[in-house]
Amino acid sequence: MCGIIGYIGTKNAIPILINGLKRLEYRGYDSAGIAFLQVNGFSVSRCAGKIRELERSIRGEKLRAKIGIGHTRWATHGRPSEENAHPHRSGGIVVVHNGIIENFYELKDDLKTKGHVFSSETDTEVICHLICDYEKKGLSFRDATRAALGHLEGAYAIGVINESEPDRILAVKNDSPLVIGLGKKEFFIASDIPAFLKYTRDVIFPENGEMAEITTEGVSISNFRKNRKVTRKATRITWSPTMAEKGGYKHFMLKEIYEQPRAIADTIRGRFSLEKAGVNLDEFGLKESLLKRVSKIFLVACGTSWHSALIGKYMIEDMARIPCEVDIASEFRYRQPLIPRGSLVIVITQSGETADTLAAQREARKLGARVLSICNVVGSTSSREAHGVFYTHSGPEIGVASTKAFTTQLTALYLFSIAMAKAKGKLKDKEITELFSELLQLPEKVETALKIDGAVKKIAKKYCKVRDFLYLGRGINYPIALEGALKLKEISYIHAEGYPAGEMKHGPIALIDNDMPVLTLAPNDNVYEKILSNMEEVKSRGGKLIAVAVEGNRKAASHSSETLLMPETNYYLTPIIFSIPLHLLAYHMAVLKKCNVDQPRNLAKSVTVE
Ligand code: F6R
Repeated sequence: MCGIIGYIGTKNAIPILINGLKRLEYRGYDSAGIAFLQVNGFSVSRCAGKIRELERSIRGEKLRAKIGIGHTRWATHGRPSEENAHPHRSGGIVVVHNGIIENFYELKDDLKTKGHVFSSETDTEVICHLICDYEKKGLSFRDATRAALGHLEGAYAIGVINESEPDRILAVKNDSPLVIGLGKKEFFIASDIPAFLKYTRDVIFPENGEMAEITTEGVSISNFRKNRKVTRKATRITWSPTMAEKGGYKHFMLKEIYEQPRAIADTIRGRFSLEKAGVNLDEFGLKESLLKRVSKIFLVACGTSWHSALIGKYMIEDMARIPCEVDIASEFRYRQPLIPRGSLVIVITQSGETADTLAAQREARKLGARVLSICNVVGSTSSREAHGVFYTHSGPEIGVASTKAFTTQLTALYLFSIAMAKAKGKLKDKEITELFSELLQLPEKVETALKIDGAVKKIAKKYCKVRDFLYLGRGINYPIALEGALKLKEISYIHAEGYPAGEMKHGPIALIDNDMPVLTLAPNDNVYEKILSNMEEVKSRGGKLIAVAVEGNRKAASHSSETLLMPETNYYLTPIIFSIPLHLLAYHMAVLKKCNVDQPRNLAKSVTVE
């Protein structure tokens, strides 16, 4: 997730910008840059890599400036490089941006026909060119920016400075975070409070659709669509710097669980068209003609990403009727897989750097398969070595236990399955628009699902001293049972197992006694009655049942000691909603056991060795 900083005031802006960027490092980034005003105009310094590289590039120069903007980039469009790093510039207009401009391809084509020359692969660069274009038509800086904003679709927080009006910063917020810091004759803009907490604790949070015009005299906020002034009250921040980095959450894992509505919205942004009933395939390097020829799919991954792969099989086979095989990457690479002609291998990896997944990916290519990577990190090895990439855009995941990366992988697989089904003629346009409509409601449903947190915490209190835990699911939610168990064991060190519920009688039922908590996933699907019978089997042997079911389900409640009722969605998206209480349960159990939630013992975020 990119980080923005901006300063206008009486002090030297440069150390303030650099310091601000360092405070935003926790958001994850792959390149950085600053722009500041000197006597002969704006200077822009950018580099791929760490902020210390940026510092090195300007060290020794006697730089002073009273106004500037800076940026840490978490790549979404275009690999991490100096050219793609922000700030971007067109004429005298310099811009930093956090978010995604959905319609940037069309805007870029249009601007190119008007003679604009682009120097990066980013979506951001269209913003400065658009503003510049309007300024050339005689509009003031403010009006040119407003006019440019009228073209943008997507999520953005933007900071803009202009050589011809060097006494002001314009800052815009639309669905991406932005906060303004209020000092004495000095003001800050940032993606997050820690960037300027050292200088002021008084802040304003602009709302979506608002633009702030900031000079050393003060801040004026307006609704940029209605061109109407608005008043926003200042708030005093009492958080410590570490609390502020985690957005007030105690751990990154909890913050990332709560970020899921935004992360899912970013994953689906600009990815499909309701009118055309189709997924936008261009971005993934896949053509419909290629999908038409696919006769078999292999899904390959490790850990939580492997759970996504298992769910992906249910989605693809059900929607597109193409046979899928799922492999753990460390098995695939050594099992000499038989890859027939027409095979597509989908590797799923949050980091894009997992050694076993990369080895499996290389093996698949060697055996002649096309490879699609579902990946969260732009420019990662997996994304570079694949034929096509579906970026999940969930923002950096810092907690070792994967949460938002998992649910956005499932969102990507849902979209891929629809694209595949359309190419194969297995879904009608009407069915596809219904699937899209449900997807559009998903971020809100996830938001509702998160309200279960208090109830989950109570359950965690009751069970946090147990030694073992069992998770049961069936069908598309069986991998969610595996995921619940993996999360619990990795962060709370409680021994946990996930099973397909129908497998109980073949062994695990022997474990059930009065001390064994059993969490059962019971959505209203085709195997609902079967799972009720499995719950009966547990109950009659004294097991303590926790049921996750859909709102309004009284039957599941009567079968269990605790019931967590979740919002209803379609069959394919249920695993996303049902993973939420399981991730929260693991989190609370680990906190109650005083475990190091964000960095569990023996684990690394990115497993780059075999
Ligand atoms: C579990 C977890 C790991 C990763 C696995 C693969 O919470 O995070 O199991 O899912 O190490 O990592 P990626 O997806 O980066 O390939």
